[in-house]
Amino acid sequence: MSLSLPERLARDRTLPDAELKTLLASGAHDAELFALADATRRRTYGDEVFVRGLVEFTNFCRNDCLYCGIRKSNARAERYRLTEEEILSCCATGRALGFRTFVLQGGEDAAWSDARLADLVKEICARHPDCRMTLSVGERPRAAYEAFFAAGARRYLLRHETANEAHYAFLHPAGLSLANRMKCLFDLKDIGYQVGAGFMVGSPGQTLDCLVDDLRFLQKLDPDMVGIGPFIHHAETPFAREPNGSLDLTLRLLAVLRLMFPHVLLPATTALGTIHPQGREMGLKAGANVLMPNLSPVRVRKAYSLYDSKICTGEEAAECAGCLARRVAAAGYRIVSDPGDVRRPS
Ligand code: 5AD
Ligand code: FES
Repeated sequence: MSLSLPERLARDRTLPDAELKTLLASGAHDAELFALADATRRRTYGDEVFVRGLVEFTNFCRNDCLYCGIRKSNARAERYRLTEEEILSCCATGRALGFRTFVLQGGEDAAWSDARLADLVKEICARHPDCRMTLSVGERPRAAYEAFFAAGARRYLLRHETANEAHYAFLHPAGLSLANRMKCLFDLKDIGYQVGAGFMVGSPGQTLDCLVDDLRFLQKLDPDMVGIGPFIHHAETPFAREPNGSLDLTLRLLAVLRLMFPHVLLPATTALGTIHPQGREMGLKAGANVLMPNLSPVRVRKAYSLYDSKICTGEEAAECAGCLARRVAAAGYRIVSDPGDVRRPS
């Protein structure tokens, strides 16, 4: 008996382009694909789900990505910037709720100079020596990444968004380049960060060939985390009338990523929870093993609006933590209070 496509992907951790596209193009293999992905995640991570406390600390952004609700051209965005004290207080709340890793995410905000951000990282690490600091603040010079690392940051999230040159140009303003995005990712790895890359599923102009390019790029980068979620339109962007990404394709890609990168950290994202009420639970069952709930103060949550209808904008950190614990348990997994490092085979 010859092996099925999902079985061959599980065995070889790769497939030729044409077969990857076959797997992604229809739901024909989904049941088997998701079962193999779940078995693969359980071999390394059991039923554990890692949580990262996300602090969306500024929505000022000098960039103008066409898909993003906080792009600088969106004059209707209500801009905010948390203070050091507010950010430290979010982390303290998170620590008390069991979080052992914090992600500071924000737009590319000049008011947060490299030096100011490095000082904040140092202070958070000093107050919470048992916690891991992650930054997600976009493209900065290598020297900045080095300064953040010296200050104690150990992880960096920077989605590559698409590994297809023409598609990258379609999604971004002139001046941004895929080459620089990739250079940033390789610099971060070289400095010693655990690196997270990733892309949106169903972004305007995306084809199956683009997705294959994404998978091939990830094979080269070999990241510790891969963040993917459906594209969701935002009313105040040029893509306001574009259709949202599909739940099914996002789940399929999570499962494919789990089989290609058995040890990778794979979040079931807020965007996935936004396009379907059970999206994050379905993501876990398709191979995801990380959740990134929001620790930002409720008063700013609606303003950090990358896309429309984002969930959890009215809930306090403790409410989301409780809600997630119940959801994860109902799905057959368990949230652990742990920094949640990647478990690569030794
Ligand atoms: N829909 C879904 N995801 C989005 N992001 C930005 N805008 C959108 C959108 N409209 C994602 C990008 C970015 C991450 C922080 O959020 O991939 O890297
Ligand atoms: Fe935020 Fe359920 S996770 S309300």
